[in-house]
Amino acid sequence: MTRRRRIYEGKGKVLFEGPEPGTLVQYFKDDAVAGDSDAKHVVITGKGVLNNRISEYLMMRLSEIGVPTHFVRRLNMREQLVREVEIIPIQVVVRNVVAGSLATRFAIAEGTALPRSIVEFYYKGEGGQRPMVSEEHITAFGWAAPEDLDEMMNLALRVNDFLSGLFLGIGLKLVDFKVEFGRLWENDYMRIVLADEISPDNCRLWDIKTNERFDRDQLSRGPGRVEEAYQEVARRLGILPEGGPRDLKGPKVMQ
Ligand code: TMP
Repeated sequence: MTRRRRIYEGKGKVLFEGPEPGTLVQYFKDDAVAGDSDAKHVVITGKGVLNNRISEYLMMRLSEIGVPTHFVRRLNMREQLVREVEIIPIQVVVRNVVAGSLATRFAIAEGTALPRSIVEFYYKGEGGQRPMVSEEHITAFGWAAPEDLDEMMNLALRVNDFLSGLFLGIGLKLVDFKVEFGRLWENDYMRIVLADEISPDNCRLWDIKTNERFDRDQLSRGPGRVEEAYQEVARRLGILPEGGPRDLKGPKVMQ
């Protein structure tokens, strides 16, 4: 078993030092947290394998339309090679339909279509806090420069347009999603690139006909339902892992 340096561990992923300078290995865990920061921890067998595959697919499609990403290539069932970036501590959420915290905050019925897409920013604070912040907070506290923020917003809206169409093509409505960005340095030149992952862990996906949910909101109905929902997303995208649903355990985490 190889020893690798663990750089970061989050709710659903571990980042290890990569094989070459400037790279990292992103390992997808089966762990999930029901709800926000204070919530309970659950294990959903096979979730990491599905998210690795789904995120690879979506990042590759996005890079084909010119959205820069940190993704390099998938290494195995649970791991992918990514470029090392300086993560900007802001979660960018794009919403097309009212759901989740937006529904709660303004007491609007879930499922209400928005007249235009709404972009929100959340600060990834210490200890798992996630306060909603404005552009003023972001620039005043130096988390991102105004031009970085413009680029993040432009990229998030391009991701929204492209993924909304892609999911519509397989009968799913992209209700909302969260993305993160990083700074990629090449000599003295810096680019903002899409980082982290795009998977049903950070999207709300509803069936266009029945409004059935194919995302982690299924957690309230048990881990088994989440696995089925994520499998269905992968199946509709045409990328269910090679061995099918039985083959979802994949390699164990090594360090
Ligand atoms: P929210 O309605 O709970 O604010 O979530 C908006 C979107 O952001 C939804 O698609 C799920 C995603 N999200 C994350 O990816 N990570 C998080 O920690 C939270 C709370 C939401």
